[in-house]
Amino acid sequence: MNGEFTPWAESTVPLSTHALHYGTGVFEGIRSYAVDGEAAIFRLDAHLARFYRSAEVYGMRIPFSPEQLTEAIGGVLRRNRLTDSYIRPIAYMGAETLGIRAQCSTETAILAWPQMAHVSEQSRMRGARLTVSPYRKFDARMMPTTAKACGQYLNSRLATMDASRRGYDEALLLNIDGNVAEAAVTNVFVVNGRTLRTNDEKSSILMGITRDSILQLAAGEGFGTEVGILTVDDLKKADEVFLCGTACEILPVAELDGARIGKSAPGPVTAQIRGAFDRAKTGAAPEWNHWLHRVPAAGIQVGAASSK
Ligand SMILES: Cc1ncc(COP(=O)(O)O)c(C=O)c1O
Repeated sequence: MNGEFTPWAESTVPLSTHALHYGTGVFEGIRSYAVDGEAAIFRLDAHLARFYRSAEVYGMRIPFSPEQLTEAIGGVLRRNRLTDSYIRPIAYMGAETLGIRAQCSTETAILAWPQMAHVSEQSRMRGARLTVSPYRKFDARMMPTTAKACGQYLNSRLATMDASRRGYDEALLLNIDGNVAEAAVTNVFVVNGRTLRTNDEKSSILMGITRDSILQLAAGEGFGTEVGILTVDDLKKADEVFLCGTACEILPVAELDGARIGKSAPGPVTAQIRGAFDRAKTGAAPEWNHWLHRVPAAGIQVGAASSK
């Protein structure tokens, strides 16, 4: 936290923290995987690049270089002996004043947990039940959807609460044009034959790093890829639909508002892409090894997590 390793219980913020009141923070969600007893962080450079871009949108200057953050993330993993983990860098406006036009200090912290299940085993294996949310995705002209900013997640939160309340696994948000934007915390892919299609920032989405990885992996697997508008009808008529994001990786969709999608979930293309993704993230596909940032974690003797 701000350049020091601090124990969880002491990593607190003042009540007047600007970000607590107005959501003026930006963050990343990153995963590391256990590979050969080490932690392999998936696409760290891409995540850090988005982190700095998001901060810039909200006028925050992260007072550490990407190299320093990379070093710090490695330190957090090593000290906590983490290999399979979820890593959350956050930069947020500090506590000097609550004025909306104020420029507070930019506070920076990195949290990490052992990897946890983000979706139920049932959804992962047999496909999620998706519903069109009554909440629209905010338009990029209201808040830039390409920034991963704290306050922007109230929209995802409302959509997810509503979907859960109605008994669905995931919420699909339409944009203000009525086309598909994305799910609450994942991007959307539609498969027809041997072609994968997804949308881009013109549809008011966060440009997911998993989405980008899948576009590259799909081409490598010999599939066609298209980027353009997606409609609800495209999803209903698709051979396969899947969601993707750092936390859930690749999540097949079994049904949309009760109507079955395709013949099976996961369908064969989704299963093949998932296989390719699994090989890439575990270092089993040498052509994607440049996506992995290795941190020797296991077996390294360090002091207690609270030591500096
Ligand atoms: C709104 C939103 N869309 C898409 C994604 C997927 O992005 P990524 O693949 O970079 O995790 C996320 C998760 O970060 C998200 O919060």
